[in-house]
Amino acid sequence: MKASVYIAFSLDGFIARKNGDLDWLPEPGSTNEDYGYHAFMETVDALVMGRNTFEKVLSFGVPWPYGDKPVFVLSNSGFNIPEGMPPSVSVLSGDLSEIVAALLQRGYEHIYLDGGVTVQNFLRAGLVDRLILTIVPVLIGDGKRLFGSLAEDIPLTLIDQHTWPSGMTQLIYDLK
Ligand SMILES: NC(=O)c1ccc[n+]([C@@H]2O[C@H](COP(=O)([O-])OP(=O)(O)OC[C@H]3O[C@@H](n4cnc5c(N)ncnc54)[C@H](OP(=O)(O)O)[C@@H]3O)[C@@H](O)[C@H]2O)c1
Repeated sequence: MKASVYIAFSLDGFIARKNGDLDWLPEPGSTNEDYGYHAFMETVDALVMGRNTFEKVLSFGVPWPYGDKPVFVLSNSGFNIPEGMPPSVSVLSGDLSEIVAALLQRGYEHIYLDGGVTVQNFLRAGLVDRLILTIVPVLIGDGKRLFGSLAEDIPLTLIDQHTWPSGMTQLIYDLK
């Protein structure tokens, strides 16, 4: 099974302001460009996202954006999926290696990892295969970090890169 991260961050390394605000990201629909998102989503069997990211998605108050694609929300705090969510949404907790083994056993071939703490935990566990990183040309000074401390360096191999007239830059790396 392959695990990929697809995420946008400010040039100074933040995925959200401290309070979770994403107001520094380009307004959705402000350009026709989707920065490869839909093509990437077509390759993904399931999403694994942190509880904070899930709650942020719900706060947008828009129709559920992931259709019937399975979404596994990571939480160790006894979090329950709110009523009214599609049956494709469920909570997972526990050891990440066991979670990945369970997803593999269910037949998933490509999972999309989302959320800062989540990405950091998967990186520390050596369970990320690909990073698709979109750098937003802005400095926001403070916020929730995409990357965190590591026990050892993680070498990366640059696979591809794109720049757009908007100033957005995408770097795609493999970890293995
Ligand atoms: N810029 C972007 O592209 C982008 C993308 C995604 C998210 N975001 C933003 O980033 C913010 C959320 O990121 P975040 O760094 O705060 O956290 P997050 O990864 O979304 O959520 C963290 C929570 O996930 C749970 N969790 C993480 N790893 C776990 C594990 N191994 N086992 C069990 N539970 C685990 C824990 O929930 P419990 O506390 O319930 O145990 C933890 O508190 C939001 O504001 C969101 O909008 C931005």
